[in-house]
Amino acid sequence: MAAELVCFAPTCRTRFPITELLYNCPKCGSLLEAIYEPLEQSALMLKRVWRERRTSNAPLDQSGVWRFRELIPFLASYNCVVTLREGNTPLLEARQAAQYAGLDRLVFKHQGFNPTGSFKDNGMTCGTAQALRLGRTRVACVSTGNTSASMAAYASAAGLQPIIFIPHGNISYGKLAQALEYGARTLQVEANFDQILALVRQIAEQLGIYLLNSINPFRIEGQKTIMAEMLDQRDWQAPDWVVLPGGNLGNTAAFGKALREMKELGLISRLPRLAVIQAEGAAPFYELVHKTQKSRAKKPQLQAVEHPETLATAIKIGDPVSWPKALYEVTTSQGVAEKVTEQEIADAKAVIGRCGIGCEPASAATLAGLKKLIAAGIIPADADVVAVLTGHVLKDPDYIYRYHTGVLEGPGGEHIHSNYGNQPLVVPNDPAEIARVLG
Ligand code: F0G
Repeated sequence: MAAELVCFAPTCRTRFPITELLYNCPKCGSLLEAIYEPLEQSALMLKRVWRERRTSNAPLDQSGVWRFRELIPFLASYNCVVTLREGNTPLLEARQAAQYAGLDRLVFKHQGFNPTGSFKDNGMTCGTAQALRLGRTRVACVSTGNTSASMAAYASAAGLQPIIFIPHGNISYGKLAQALEYGARTLQVEANFDQILALVRQIAEQLGIYLLNSINPFRIEGQKTIMAEMLDQRDWQAPDWVVLPGGNLGNTAAFGKALREMKELGLISRLPRLAVIQAEGAAPFYELVHKTQKSRAKKPQLQAVEHPETLATAIKIGDPVSWPKALYEVTTSQGVAEKVTEQEIADAKAVIGRCGIGCEPASAATLAGLKKLIAAGIIPADADVVAVLTGHVLKDPDYIYRYHTGVLEGPGGEHIHSNYGNQPLVVPNDPAEIARVLG
């Protein structure tokens, strides 16, 4: 068997066929992951093939996920793949952002350049392929917005019915609008993300709907290619640090797995360290990492935040499902976790905007966190850092307008200063007056 599912718990590690419809280990309830037989190709050969595919017109090769298909060989045939040409996102140097953080140089890997504007597309092309392979007709997820937008697009493109569950009043309009436009059956539930996830798991099982939340191991496989593409773009020179925001922690799990596997394959010679940034009002993983690093606890346990709060709604999650994997990856990579305030996120976001790059609030947590980690001496100023921007600037325009016009309020009603504000001016239809304003 070339690919299998295996229980993530070190004490269990039970294996299951890759085609078994499972999200958790039936024996112990832990998360599952995909594992593969060793590859036959050498690292050199893989690098060459992946580079050559960049010039191909075949849909599979044009995908920034399936171009790296040797890293995610869970399918027996590629007939069930639907690609919207996901991935293919740039590395962008950002001088002002580097200066703001206190770094000599900073590069963003901008996942907002994906077809639906977030990194979720990298995973969703894999999740929908597995849904089709398993003969499912309906797929579902709970989402803070981006997963639902992405799932809606990929499911509709694949001829599957997308059903999304979202916390009522707690996702940005840009994301909700995408889900509606892409044809998702949309249910707004009067509960928070964590509560809805429990509900959806129950309903999915009852109605035989395929679940596409990040507990789905195939989505994690797709998100691994974000790291492969980043390294390919850097000619396989691993950075010192990879910085990313943490919500449900699927991406942290995916990046860690990808980097470990690529090191094992000899594609890179050392592991970059992971830095996971959370919003202060939704930072259970930050607390867990700090507690674990301080006490070296044998059996660390995440303490869920019952009422998570942040304007960065994408990461407004109090009970992240992938925490065991994420903790393993942060520990293995000698990584860290940091938390940032609403003000720090808002200012960092505006600075990223001023670079001509822009991103959504959750993504800006990376720059805010970097600034803190550099100030604390954890990351040196001359470090080679790649920070991942997870979502597009237009995902949450309401937040932007409020920040720049000085009326943005935090979750507790606290005023957020528009330190990098850019107020639009109202002017009369009068050339002399406009000339005066423009100096
Ligand atoms: N950034 C953005 C823009 C996101 O949408 C998310 C997650 C994250 C960061 C955090 O990533 O969960 O892998 O740690 N959004 C999910 C959703 C939860 O439903 O769209 P994570």
